[in-house]
Amino acid sequence: MRWVWRIVLILVIAGLGAVGWIVFGPGPLSFAGGNTVALGDYKEPAPTGVPASLAGASLIARGEYLAEAADCAACHTVPGRPRYAGGLAFKLPFGTIYSPNITADKETGIGGWSDADLASYLAYGHARAHGTASGPMGEAVDRSFSQMTVDDIKSIVAYLQTVPAITSPDMPANPAPPAPASHRDGGGERNARGKLVFEGSCASCHGWTGESAVSPLATLTGAAAVNDPAGTNVAQIVLSGTTRLTPDGALSMPSFGHAYSDDEIAAVANYVTARFGAKGASLTARDVSKLREQASQ
Ligand code: HEC
Ligand code: HEC
Repeated sequence: MRWVWRIVLILVIAGLGAVGWIVFGPGPLSFAGGNTVALGDYKEPAPTGVPASLAGASLIARGEYLAEAADCAACHTVPGRPRYAGGLAFKLPFGTIYSPNITADKETGIGGWSDADLASYLAYGHARAHGTASGPMGEAVDRSFSQMTVDDIKSIVAYLQTVPAITSPDMPANPAPPAPASHRDGGGERNARGKLVFEGSCASCHGWTGESAVSPLATLTGAAAVNDPAGTNVAQIVLSGTTRLTPDGALSMPSFGHAYSDDEIAAVANYVTARFGAKGASLTARDVSKLREQASQ
């Protein structure tokens, strides 16, 4: 029976080894090197994304570090052109959309936004009167910026307000206010086809004023996409649809690429920019067909 005891002894030693490894071995945070602190004992100020060497730095210096780390410039700058002046084309799986100017320019950038609006846009992907972050910006908010602390967001806002103003020649000076409540008044009246598509497929979520009754995220008033007279981003969103992950679940706009012809999509994009934006677009069926081609590449 000696072999039985030998097996028992081996099992006991193996068990002790396993317990020892769990108790004394490296934990999941051992790569970090420093002292670990139980959450309940954490007495330091709020956690932040800046390194310890910047802890005492000004709000603006911390914001500059965080904006760098968050890659704002990568998406909001065309290589060789002024930083943060926007205009970068995003070749997404469904086609191309363009990033807006986020320099402190009062008219074509974000110089006219209040600090509170900017903070809300970055943290929640929406700011009243400035629309909603869709596409790549929506994803960046949902996956990353929405997890930042209030203080870190504040410092990015402080830094952004110091970025030298650059005027984008192709953006309107001021976003348009909400459209009239009655569908009979307002821009785009001569575009019967665009109006018909809007009435059938868009008005239920976006409303005739552009201020959505369904969700503030679906408010079109003030959005860069509808105020851009090129109209490309609107056509692109209609072709592809868009989804935002909110704390209450996913909020989606369906894609209409299969439901409508190139001509109808051009017409509804022209209608939406005329009714809710500063100036109507003049997209043609050919333009939309090019957007579709980009999408399939
Ligand atoms: C993955 C690319 C990407 C990254 C990263 C990104 N942005 Fe954006 N951003 C965009 C796009 C595209 C839009 C346009 C969204 C729309 O029209 O719905 C946008 C819109 C915005 C707007 C709204 C501007 C307007 O006029 O409506 C602000 C403000 C902004 N971004 C700030 C930032 C800041 C600050 C950072 C870094 C913390 C950042 N973005 C990082 C792509 C990006
Ligand atoms: C089921 C509701 C629903 C319908 C129908 C719908 N949308 Fe949307 N739309 C949304 C939501 C929600 C958002 C914001 C989500 C996001 O940005 O990802 C949005 C975003 C947009 C945006 C971008 C706004 C911005 O801030 O950048 C445009 C432009 C737009 N819709 C146009 C249309 C048009 C045109 C139609 C009709 C062809 C339409 N939508 C139909 C729900 C809807």
